[in-house]
Amino acid sequence: MSSAVENTIFEDPTLNVIHLLNSIAQENPQALSLASGRPDDEHCDPALIDLGLARYRQHIANTGHSLETLLCQYGKTSGIINEIIATHLQMDEEVHVCNPESVVVCMGFQEACTLALLSIFEGSGVLLVPDPVFCGITGIAKLLGIKTVPVPMADFLDPVALRKIIEALESKGEKTRAVYAIPDFSNPTADSLSYHDRKTMLSLAHEKNFFILEDTAYRYFRYEGEDIASMKAIDSSRVFLLGSFAKSIFPGLRMGYVVAPEGTGVMPFGPRLCKAKSLITVNTPALCQAVVAGLLLENHYSLKGLNQPRALSYAKKRNHMLECLERAFPLGADARRAVNWNQPAGGFFINVQLPFVFGYCEMRECAEQFKVIVFPTTLFSLTNEAAGQVRLSFSNATTSQITQAIDSFRRYVEFRLQ
Ligand SMILES: Cc1ncc(COP(=O)(O)O)c(C=O)c1O
Repeated sequence: MSSAVENTIFEDPTLNVIHLLNSIAQENPQALSLASGRPDDEHCDPALIDLGLARYRQHIANTGHSLETLLCQYGKTSGIINEIIATHLQMDEEVHVCNPESVVVCMGFQEACTLALLSIFEGSGVLLVPDPVFCGITGIAKLLGIKTVPVPMADFLDPVALRKIIEALESKGEKTRAVYAIPDFSNPTADSLSYHDRKTMLSLAHEKNFFILEDTAYRYFRYEGEDIASMKAIDSSRVFLLGSFAKSIFPGLRMGYVVAPEGTGVMPFGPRLCKAKSLITVNTPALCQAVVAGLLLENHYSLKGLNQPRALSYAKKRNHMLECLERAFPLGADARRAVNWNQPAGGFFINVQLPFVFGYCEMRECAEQFKVIVFPTTLFSLTNEAAGQVRLSFSNATTSQITQAIDSFRRYVEFRLQ
């Protein structure tokens, strides 16, 4: 019998990126890492678990429910804290949830997007994603057998170009059923959609009858400028809101949610989401739900207070990384730089453009020889987009680590340009 590796979807590189992000630092313990978009370890405070749980117990004591049943038994598929999440969305986002059963509490964004995709796609249809894009969506779409069409980021941010792509697919008989978007500070490139572009994309969704999967993972991490309304707040009827508490509380809880589209004449997706969930994880661990609910109650249903000190600390790190980049790659005599980068108003990442290709092998070379791990943006691409780009994450490094890491990265770039 042949021992050759079979050519299955499990060999697809898209499915390896999350693992790679989590393992590359362990494989190179001697190197500083700017690879993973983890929240700062300092914000992952176990005391929040006790605080949240105690506050939730107090809350339940006033309701007549049995804590034993709520916390220790199999639970309601859609969750036990839906109303608390709905109130939080009203408070922080002005998103009005009409039916709390439109909220399904999930094990992180990852389960939320799995359920949304399962409830939208049955056999046919196309998912549009910006390219490059967070591998959590493209990986699960691949596993579910959903045809995914990458749209170069510049076209994705341009409503006219996006319409043309959708119409070109239509002319080949391919129906766009959903568009995935991270409107605030995307991963990996930290791009955002303007209010105008959010509205235009929503009008297109009505016209062409597709849904928007809105991922709000980085929404609470804006460092300058005014908040822009979420797409869900602008028009709930076309949007599956995919929320995560990974960055805004901590990822170990594995807590997130999906809010189905709502509005007059809109098909209720809640029952579909629950049916899929009942067969995947049965229900989200009640203990984790209790911690999140308790923390929301403790903070008057708002994540803004909890995240303000975090955002301040991330803003300092972003500023520091920008200063280090300025020093490392100064303007040349022709007032140009060999290396360029964006200046995002929020999120966890800065995206750097190098004058040479930077992929998997270059990442290893840089880690092994220059002791710094930076992640090739192209590994988030389904095409050859972003071949010379690097995603730098400042979220889980101290300022002195950032100084040292950017200096090592500079030495790597100089070595490559010799
Ligand atoms: C774009 C994006 N969405 C969502 C998440 C969070 O996912 P989860 O809640 O499954 O940890 C991340 C984490 O890296 C992310 O980058």
